[in-house]
Amino acid sequence: LDSTEANLIMTAWNKVKTQESDILYAIFKTYPDIQNKFPQFTGKDLDSIKGSAAFAVHATRIVSFMTQVFGLFGHDGTGPALKTLMNEMGQNHKGRGVTKAQFNEFRTAFMTYMKSHSPFGDNVQTAFNKAFDTMYYVIFENL
Ligand code: HEM
Repeated sequence: LDSTEANLIMTAWNKVKTQESDILYAIFKTYPDIQNKFPQFTGKDLDSIKGSAAFAVHATRIVSFMTQVFGLFGHDGTGPALKTLMNEMGQNHKGRGVTKAQFNEFRTAFMTYMKSHSPFGDNVQTAFNKAFDTMYYVIFENL
């Protein structure tokens, strides 16, 4: 990604990144199989866990991680810091039995959320596509 694309991503992301629980809710709502991989949320009614502290903690973890990753694109490109982070998360998630199909589901739900809460054009879409391709290339080598 070039610096223009990295900035487009951060601008769009900055508009939604405080909506942690809503983002996680949207992902779980569309893909319950993702929710069911979380031991403390398996089989639970999504609307009743949404307001819980445990839900907020997980939502914040994921969103903070994405802020860190998206921030790296401006500085590190596909460089070493990003690769290390993606390899670690690939290994962690492999250990939890998360599949490539689920990562792709996450991507779909995430982009749907982004587009409805931070309306943007084709150039931003292209930048996010490149970002996910770059992240997932490394993660998928680990799964
Ligand atoms: C942690 C599942 C995708 C970021 C976790 C945990 C589970 C999980 C079960 C452990 C939670 C706990 O401590 O009890 C999944 C599933 C995914 C997915 C099923 C399906 C696609 C992602 C994605 C990101 C992400 C795309 C970020 C881009 C994190 C982070 C943690 C975490 C930062 C906490 C740190 C860690 O323990 O690795 N995930 N995850 N996850 N996930 Fe995911």
